[in-house]
Amino acid sequence: MPPAQNPVAAKVITTFQQKGGSGKSTITINLAAVAGQNNPPATPEDPCPVVAAGIDRQGSLEDWSARVPEDRLPFDYVVTKGKLGEIPDLVKDPDVSRIFVDTPGFMETDPDAPLDADPLGSGPTAQAMEEVLEHTDLALVPLTPEWLTHRPAEFSIERVLKPRNVKFLVVINMWDSGNDRDFKELNELRKWCTDRGYPYASQAIRRYKIHSKAPKDGLTVIQYPESGTALRAREDFYKLALTIEQAI
Ligand SMILES: Nc1ncnc2c1ncn2[C@@H]1O[C@H](COP(=O)(O)OP(=O)(O)OP(=O)(O)O)[C@@H](O)[C@H]1O
Ligand SMILES: [Mg+2]
Repeated sequence: MPPAQNPVAAKVITTFQQKGGSGKSTITINLAAVAGQNNPPATPEDPCPVVAAGIDRQGSLEDWSARVPEDRLPFDYVVTKGKLGEIPDLVKDPDVSRIFVDTPGFMETDPDAPLDADPLGSGPTAQAMEEVLEHTDLALVPLTPEWLTHRPAEFSIERVLKPRNVKFLVVINMWDSGNDRDFKELNELRKWCTDRGYPYASQAIRRYKIHSKAPKDGLTVIQYPESGTALRAREDFYKLALTIEQAI
């Protein structure tokens, strides 16, 4: 019998938010890890069906993935460094089923451009983002309690995603559940979304120190210890992964 072929094109999930530091890389790598754990290669010699891709010139994805010991990394990773053509090729690859793309924060290239002008501009990074968005099945827009992420989230949605008809989901990240026991802050963030008609993932990603230490320690959530806060930190990503599978 011939080897089973993937009958449908790979689904592309892209984290996208103008504001730096909102959690794009953290969300990308951990979702790729959960998806990879759930979709292991048929044999150890086969390629991973899950790929994490970074178009980020900063290379956070590469730096992080490289620190996770090879035998513990449940996905393949590709860093395009802005080179065009690699993402479309991956989408067509019959061995690949999910591609999680990390994008860099971006600036409005021309502050004097008219209000309705395309904010991505036309430079090499813009072209790389354009290509990714063209192939994106679902964009994840991180929103954090920090007020400074709100306007850029709205900007990313209204000025970039909606004009391109890219389906999106807001992901509330860095929710400080320990200090927000009455859910006031979380409910405000949810209201911020509903006021604008933005769908959001019901599972917020809580703020835990283990997440911020993970890149240096070469860990993704699937390697976190099975107890205490680490378990809760990882639970958030498992639940988010389920929501995403239902949305795509
Ligand atoms: N839920 C969380 N809990 C604790 N720390 C977090 C959480 N999410 C992200 N961080 C930390 O916040 C910082 C910024 O996150 P990250 O690098 O993922 O953001 P980014 O959007 O990719 O930034 P950039 O646009 O600069 O690439 C990192 O130190 C990361 O470890
Ligand atoms: Mg990043």
